[in-house]
Amino acid sequence: MSYERANIREMTGYASGEQPAQPDIIKLNTNENPYPATAAVAEALRNCRVEDLRRYPSPLADRFRRTAAEYHQLEIDNIIPTNGGDELLRLVITTFANAGDTLAIAEPSYSLYPVLADIQGCKTARIMLGEDWSNPEDFADQANRAGARIAFVVNPHAPSGHLNSSAELSRIAENFSGVLVIDEAYVDFIDPELRYDAVELTRKFDNVLVLRTMSKGYSLAGLRFAYGIGAQSLLAPMLYKTRDSYNTDYISQTLATAALQDRAAAALNWAKVRAERLRLHRALSEMGFYCGNSQSNFILAQIPQHADALAGAERHALSLYQQLKSKGILIRYFDQPRLRDKLRITVGTPDQNTQLLLALRQSLQPSTD
Ligand SMILES: Cc1ncc(COP(=O)(O)O)c(C=O)c1O
Repeated sequence: MSYERANIREMTGYASGEQPAQPDIIKLNTNENPYPATAAVAEALRNCRVEDLRRYPSPLADRFRRTAAEYHQLEIDNIIPTNGGDELLRLVITTFANAGDTLAIAEPSYSLYPVLADIQGCKTARIMLGEDWSNPEDFADQANRAGARIAFVVNPHAPSGHLNSSAELSRIAENFSGVLVIDEAYVDFIDPELRYDAVELTRKFDNVLVLRTMSKGYSLAGLRFAYGIGAQSLLAPMLYKTRDSYNTDYISQTLATAALQDRAAAALNWAKVRAERLRLHRALSEMGFYCGNSQSNFILAQIPQHADALAGAERHALSLYQQLKSKGILIRYFDQPRLRDKLRITVGTPDQNTQLLLALRQSLQPSTD
């Protein structure tokens, strides 16, 4: 006997990246920050007392919201705290889309979006990204024609790292008649010289929701804390109606607040990641991989053309992924259109990246037998 709703019975759940138990694995598969959270976060954790857990936490994480509002120069009601970015995505869908409604999703992108759509019984309209992973010029028209209630764009894009300008996003926001989610999970790794800023769009448009997470830039993926930024009218139904009453816990509120206040220290790690991203990009390109310009903490590497001359299984991205795995290095292989000939590699520490490059070079060497 099955008690699930029919659409739950038929759907496939989200497949998380592998989280191996062995500590010595070089883990470059789930875009975690290779550096630990800052000293201020460690101190805030040390200062948490079991006595503090006796009471319920601040329902809306007010201290965090004040800190984030000050940082973004917005009001506290322009910020919604959530249990990771994933909870915000679920909240957006359950708040703004009925079962049977359509959601527009840039394709390919974060594979959780269609899973959440399935849970809510929504249809999806896939909007194909350009050759360079940019949003098509008529993104908003395509989403409107599909009757989409919500559109999802990741910027910088995952899994390529391509960055759309805020002017392009502004055009989409202006022309799209539903809610535009700009998922900025990887925003902290953008080169500051590019002066990218999509938060300003939340001041201009009441249909823009920007997703920020503490998981990547602030090295707190294990904490589960993220926040949304948007117009008060957009956030109000989620803040006061659909959110779980205590959706973020005391410890995560405390550490996330400390992390955001100490962002100057976190920024030193972002700069280190950017420097290593450049080194990896150069080394992979020299090996013949094609890598677009990534503004994220990962690189999407397309298999070298000359690898076509290599023997059998070594020819393919899947084989390379498996060979690295057998050497204790985990990267990400996606068995889906446009990505099967590519590998997504999270930028690690200098030492991890050196080991990755060494292992890749060995795997690409033509066999001598
Ligand atoms: C594009 C994108 N959006 C959102 C998230 C959600 O991150 P979290 O739930 O850890 O905040 C991720 C996580 O990998 C992601 O890749």
